[in-house]
Amino acid sequence: MTSELTLVVPTYNEAGNVEAFTAKAAKALEGIDWELVFVDDDSPDGTAKRIRQIAEANPRVRCLLRVGRRGLSSACIEGIMSTGSPFVAVMDADLQHDEGLLPAMLDILRQNEVDIVIASRYMEGGGVGDWDAGRALISKLATGLANMVVRTRLSDPMSGFFMVRRDAFEGSVRHMSGTGFKIQLDLIASSPEPLRIRELPFNFRTRHAGISKLDSHVALDFFQLLLEKTMGRVLPIRFLMFVSVGGLGVVVHLMALGVALNVLGAPFGLSQATAVLIAMTFNFTLNNSFTYRDRRLHGMKFITGLLSFYLACGIGGIINYSLAVFAFDQGFSWWLAGIMGAAVGAVWNFATTSILTWRK
Ligand code: GDD
Ligand code: MN
Repeated sequence: MTSELTLVVPTYNEAGNVEAFTAKAAKALEGIDWELVFVDDDSPDGTAKRIRQIAEANPRVRCLLRVGRRGLSSACIEGIMSTGSPFVAVMDADLQHDEGLLPAMLDILRQNEVDIVIASRYMEGGGVGDWDAGRALISKLATGLANMVVRTRLSDPMSGFFMVRRDAFEGSVRHMSGTGFKIQLDLIASSPEPLRIRELPFNFRTRHAGISKLDSHVALDFFQLLLEKTMGRVLPIRFLMFVSVGGLGVVVHLMALGVALNVLGAPFGLSQATAVLIAMTFNFTLNNSFTYRDRRLHGMKFITGLLSFYLACGIGGIINYSLAVFAFDQGFSWWLAGIMGAAVGAVWNFATTSILTWRK
């Protein structure tokens, strides 16, 4: 029988936390019809085995084990889709999210006036505990940026602790990006109809056992999500990243040209040729690490990829040049002709390298 509330808890190396989490959740949810799905990405520390031991004794608990996959957001999405409960809560396994808030969240959803209840660290009555000033500042900045994409002002769009009506979630899920950490932001920003939201304060506790999985990629994931949810409605995110890298490449090109010409005293032709090579290599490396992070080339493939990138962009350069000269001859102003050449060259470079260099 489907229970009224399902808790979805993503885990990666949380073997030291799942028991305590289950015990605390069970205590907080007395009198409520609930179940608990841990979504584990094959943690090397044996988290899934621990969960299955708990599940042997407690039929409310189960483990959704994913193999060869990683990602907090996609884990939560699959966990939510695995249940038919009308209400679903997403929480961390490390006891940082206060399970004592669950009954109040559920009561609010039952009244049918809102679609999602968010537990907020930044409301009157909430808090972030013992964070250092650096992390607190970063979190504040990220909150400001995130509010740009949720189309409403929230005190904490990224707390990662929320309870949602499953039908509201299902309205959003086909539009979600599903990458990275920011499931809550993704969910709110992706809903075709604005979600009705309520926030409740809570105190973010210190992690019980184990370590945080937030690393440098998380920041990148976040900016990617922001881009996708703002400009991505018009242009594909990869293209935007490719063009941004290209913009940086122009700066690198000018710097290399200046150094070769003025510091090393090389002739202009040689300096320009060197700068072109340096800028293309720079662009390739950056695109390989960021734009195509999921298809990143290593070792020998890195070298052949670089060569194919030179080739594609070399042809792109010729197209850029020819089109601009043609447009200029046709009477377009110099800057419009320049932009037309550059735009068509960029599309060419993007299209051909996505097929030639970073083939799926
Ligand atoms: N299945 C799965 N796969 N679970 C993961 C993965 C993954 O790749 N990465 C992290 N998790 C799980 C962790 O095991 C934990 O239960 C939960 O996701 C949150 O990860 P933490 O590593 O504890 O993140 P945090 O505490 O630094 O970040 C939390 O606070 C942020 C706000 O500051 C999270 O709740 C974020 O969502 C939140 O934005
Ligand atoms: Mn945590």
